[in-house]
Amino acid sequence: MTSPRQERIALYPGSFDPLTNGHVDIISRGARLFDRIVVAVLRNSEKQPLFTVDERLATAREVFRDLHNVEVDAFEGLLVDYARRRRANVIVRGLRAVSDFEYEMQMALMNRRLRPEVETVFMMPAETYTYLSSRLVKEVFALGGEVAGLVPPVVEARLREKGRAG
Ligand code: PNS
Repeated sequence: MTSPRQERIALYPGSFDPLTNGHVDIISRGARLFDRIVVAVLRNSEKQPLFTVDERLATAREVFRDLHNVEVDAFEGLLVDYARRRRANVIVRGLRAVSDFEYEMQMALMNRRLRPEVETVFMMPAETYTYLSSRLVKEVFALGGEVAGLVPPVVEARLREKGRAG
């Protein structure tokens, strides 16, 4: 008799302030690869975030409402401790360009040292999103630029509610 296969649960951690279409692209790809992907929003990552964690959770949940193996949650403390609590064996991170590599490798190897059984998997977003970051979206929006197509419509609406001054 074969034992049931262990569910493959992946974490996709980040600040998501705000969620961009680059994140959505990676999450959608991850949802096809893993049984479940948990979008894990870090609490207290920045002293002055644009969106509160609750706002980020609410918008991400709305965006992934119809993708039933995508879960959105918040975490604090070490990512590998959260992975243990969630029984996740994979951490997914997006790699946009070579410039991401050094920081990502440091994190992946530190997480491996802390908890070797958790594997980090890097995924490339669609090339149209390789220049996209939450920081640039905030800057462009604050200075009056167009962010349609860079973030999901619900995030664009929340940005407008906040106003250009943030
Ligand atoms: O969106 P970001 O800022 O690139 O995400 C960074 C994040 C949340 C993945 C990273 O800061 C993190 O995992 N923080 C939790 C604390 C932790 O585990 N630190 C050690 C990781 S090497």
